[in-house]
Amino acid sequence: MNLDFISQLGFLIGSVSFVWGLKLLSSPDSARRGNSIAAFGMAVAIIAILIMPMDKGAGNYAWIAGGLVLGAGIGLLLAYKVKMTGMPQMVSILNGLGGASAVVIATVEMSHFYHGTRDMSDSQVVIPLLALLIGGIAFTGSMMAWFKLEEWISDNAMTIPKHSIFNIVLLVVLLAMGVWLFLQGSEAGMVMAMVFMGLALFYGVSFVLPIGGADMPVVISLLNSFSGLSAAAAGLIYSNNFMLVGGILVGASGTILTLLMCKAMNRSLLNVLLGGFGGSSGPAKITKGDLVIREVSLNDAAIQLLYSQSVVFVPGYGLAVAQAQKVVKEVDDILEKNGVDVKYAIHPVAGRMPGHMNVLLAEADVPYPKLLDLEEANDFIANADVAVIIGANDVVNPAAEDDPSSPIYGMPVLQVWKAKHVIVLKRSMRAGYAGIDNMLFFHPRNKMLFGDAKDTLSKLITELKGL
Ligand code: TAP
Repeated sequence: MNLDFISQLGFLIGSVSFVWGLKLLSSPDSARRGNSIAAFGMAVAIIAILIMPMDKGAGNYAWIAGGLVLGAGIGLLLAYKVKMTGMPQMVSILNGLGGASAVVIATVEMSHFYHGTRDMSDSQVVIPLLALLIGGIAFTGSMMAWFKLEEWISDNAMTIPKHSIFNIVLLVVLLAMGVWLFLQGSEAGMVMAMVFMGLALFYGVSFVLPIGGADMPVVISLLNSFSGLSAAAAGLIYSNNFMLVGGILVGASGTILTLLMCKAMNRSLLNVLLGGFGGSSGPAKITKGDLVIREVSLNDAAIQLLYSQSVVFVPGYGLAVAQAQKVVKEVDDILEKNGVDVKYAIHPVAGRMPGHMNVLLAEADVPYPKLLDLEEANDFIANADVAVIIGANDVVNPAAEDDPSSPIYGMPVLQVWKAKHVIVLKRSMRAGYAGIDNMLFFHPRNKMLFGDAKDTLSKLITELKGL
């Protein structure tokens, strides 16, 4: 058996592990195993590339080892340190680095191409050009998304009038330049290729700048698919099937997720990309007037919950901030013991990343069948005695159904106001991520229970145990 065959076998094992891992990621029960299998596949593929015969592989083992140690070290540190609330930022950074790698690879190959040191035909230059374009946009776009999620840059902070038209013109120029570079072949020269790369990097920034608020998850997922496609292009450059398969899997799953999220928000992708929707959260703008805010005491809330037949918890981003998942489960256990039917209503964009609530609740060992998706949840809520909203806001905002002037109008929401009683756990009257007011808080059936979600739920447990 020669080394080339063994490394091809390693790539095959890696590719199969990726597909299998991805399949297992589709359910919270098997997701952890799926992740380990995919990581194993990656390790096999790295070994496979290292043992490749020298004419096809790389020989600079000291550099490779240095990169591996440094990258793995930083990755391990980040994985341990990152909080659940910081995961979207982490995903953005990883997407960006994927794009940056494709840009570096493509730049090296373009340089070989223009200096005649690599056997590449004029028509083959289309592949590094694509890697430069998609990778460049994924890199700077993801960095921009990271800054915005960290709130280092506020939404609309650096937008110019008619920003979306500017972006369309920029994209047309970028694509036209790409076609020109392709048609010129080796005549174009490295300088023009670098101008093209600069434009792609600039477009990434400009494309993400005007997008904000509730549209950020869609953009992150789109950039995720871009980073996958740029990796696939890099795989084509080196005729590496493993990189190609991995890139296509990321590209395809990112695209599917993007479309699913657009559907969850009832918006088209074009609308999201051109809309410039949203704004950072701030104080609610409702002028109180005749509106009354009703509060509920911990004792009353405990009595109401314990004597209910069915209770639905609606988790949102605030649950993640408070890290209240385990205390919710404790409340759930006490209620279940007393014969209450407890369910969790999961909105597809609750939290700050796809599946955010599912991951948190799985961590607290909430059985998966208790989690209801949007449609099932709305059926359950209509007959529920109490809906308890835990740090959720936009996803339970009735304006999505009854206020055509609202930016979230048309987005499917959890109709918690249809439950017999509603209790909202949050710290203040502040708005949620989309920065818009929520009339639910003034609804006659709603009562507020102010405070940090974990703290409030812990006190509720004490009350429940005392009843
Ligand atoms: P939000 O609308 O952002 O509301 C979260 C609420 O939690 C806030 O109003 C906040 O009110 C409260 N909160 C924060 N910390 C808390 C704590 N320690 N204890 C109790 N409450 C706390 O969240 P949501 O309803 O989950 O909606 C998600 C929003 O984020 C949507 O607009 C969505 O489009 C967007 N988004 C979603 C994703 C994905 S993919 N899930 C990604 C990015 C953005 P107080 O400050 O008054 O406590």
